[in-house]
Amino acid sequence: MIVVIGSINMDLVLRVPRMPLPGETLSGGAFRTIPGGKGANQAVACARLGRSAVAMIGCVGDDAFGATLRAALAADGIDVDHVSVLPGVATGVASILVDADGQNSIVIAGGANDQLTPAHIDAALPLLARASIVVLQLETPLDTVRHAIATAYGMGKTVVLNPAPAARLPAGLLAQVDYLVPNEIEAAMLLGAAASDDHAGSAAALRAMGCRNVLVTLGAQGVHAALADGSRDCPARAVTAVDTTAAGDTFIGGFVAALAGGADPASAIDLGQRAAAIGVTRHGAQTSIPYLNELEPT
Ligand code: RIB
Ligand code: NA
Repeated sequence: MIVVIGSINMDLVLRVPRMPLPGETLSGGAFRTIPGGKGANQAVACARLGRSAVAMIGCVGDDAFGATLRAALAADGIDVDHVSVLPGVATGVASILVDADGQNSIVIAGGANDQLTPAHIDAALPLLARASIVVLQLETPLDTVRHAIATAYGMGKTVVLNPAPAARLPAGLLAQVDYLVPNEIEAAMLLGAAASDDHAGSAAALRAMGCRNVLVTLGAQGVHAALADGSRDCPARAVTAVDTTAAGDTFIGGFVAALAGGADPASAIDLGQRAAAIGVTRHGAQTSIPYLNELEPT
């Protein structure tokens, strides 16, 4: 079983011809509400792209968005027993502008996601005990992420951390991470350095901080993988992107789903990349995540 611990957002999405300037009003395309949140997106990608059971630990509010998002996870076959519904709290939302090139700008109001506590993790210990892989991001409080990683590591689970959005992390945390999956900006933030084109150097420096494997995601350029048994560049397929929202989440979900199914890391990376290449040709977060049967045969 795969357990994903993280955020659940309703994405409030507007397409714009270009990003607005300060003080400017633009006319956009149709407004859509689309299920999102890095944690929920990764859980959905795990469920659609593999055959392992998937469970999620997170929080929504007791409002209409929360009910819709929890139902959407359940509709993908995800165990939502540990998706808590918090009374009197607003569900997380992400305000997203997508421009004509498919690039996005996102502002998040964490809401219920900010109330995920170490106690929620402890309440899910029997669930965690059944997991083979535990997946986390940084859209929930850092204390909770820390506690969850320490707990999963202590239980001998494979820990996957997507350090997004970018943040500095306490020393020692990365030593409990098996697979760290940052983009270039997140990698630079963790290293306390300026973003660099030397992806192999960044990945090696992150491995020196203790995580066993580092996958640096490079958008259209693909992935640089620094694995315990060697490094390689994994170029992305050339596609025309219409919306890159959740591309990283789709990659991570596909990677984890394949790993949980027994694939070696290199083939798991390939499956994640094939899934993300499809996802960026479609609109929205969870609306764009493909199913295993949509992937071209290898
Ligand atoms: O990674 C994409 C996600 O980031 C969006 O779905 C949005 O909710 C934000 O959390
Ligand atoms: Na997309």
